[in-house]
Amino acid sequence: MSNSILKGKKGIIFGALDETSIAWVTANKIYNEGGRFILTNAPVAIRMGDIEKLAEQTESKVIPADATSIEDLENLVEKAMNDLGSKLDFVLHSIGMSVNVRKGKEYTDLNHDWMTKGWDVSAVSFHKLMQTLFKLDAMNEWGSIVALTYIASQRTFPNYNDMADNKAYLESIARSFGYYFGKEKKVRVNTISQSPTLTTAGKGVKGLDDFLNYAELTSPLGNASAEECADYTISLFSDYTRKVTLQNLFNDGGFSNVGVSQEIIDKLNNK
Ligand SMILES: NC(=O)c1ccc[n+]([C@@H]2O[C@H](COP(=O)([O-])OP(=O)(O)OC[C@H]3O[C@@H](n4cnc5c(N)ncnc54)[C@H](O)[C@@H]3O)[C@@H](O)[C@H]2O)c1
Repeated sequence: MSNSILKGKKGIIFGALDETSIAWVTANKIYNEGGRFILTNAPVAIRMGDIEKLAEQTESKVIPADATSIEDLENLVEKAMNDLGSKLDFVLHSIGMSVNVRKGKEYTDLNHDWMTKGWDVSAVSFHKLMQTLFKLDAMNEWGSIVALTYIASQRTFPNYNDMADNKAYLESIARSFGYYFGKEKKVRVNTISQSPTLTTAGKGVKGLDDFLNYAELTSPLGNASAEECADYTISLFSDYTRKVTLQNLFNDGGFSNVGVSQEIIDKLNNK
């Protein structure tokens, strides 16, 4: 299904590693809706992943950038505007990484150097990206910037570890920078809080299958898939959501507003 609602719009997509990545699925959908973009990821992820395949499918160019490096971000944004022939209408930040999660460190025994690395990659990179876009005046008026987040930023989930804190930081940066982007550039900034999804980053979280099953049984509409996350992102990049900004928007089948579902009660009672 395509309604060409992004026809003529241009942007940058961060975070497509392989076919399971939410950014990968989103890139394909944006392309089908008429949007054109530059794909980017950290140099090491470009070497290890399949991004060139996605670039071919979507007639896109890949420009490497470590999202924690201002120099890389400036190079990326300048080249993207040059290659696309205009300022940008949309940017997707689909980036997350915790060294503590990767190395199986418990929250009560964190390595704080790794914690610093994790928040730089997962949260501060969003500030660095927006500051670069802002200073280079790279966004068109009524453009849209989206980052992906998870509800562990607001409610405790064992094993989501320091990523919970990184996501809380990310959501706050979206609101804080979104204020200035709205006032001065008429650009909207939002985060989408997505259901647990089986991706490379997702699988890194201990017990993700259990989170996923619990959320599925709790949510009246069931978990949102990567495709459904992509659809929501497209709506936020379209002209139909021009006054939606500074929001953390749940794409979770209703999970975030349910106390407990009958299905969970039945499970506890072995029914
Ligand atoms: N999978 C889930 O359950 C879930 C749920 C809610 C939110 N999210 C969020 O969605 C986003 C995308 O994750 P995903 O699940 O598609 O997994 P993914 O592993 O496919 O994507 C994470 C991406 O971050 C990139 N990245 C890591 N360090 C980077 C750096 N220094 N510079 C640039 N890019 C870097 C990786 O290369 C990768 O492409 C993340 O923000 C994640 O936290 C995921």
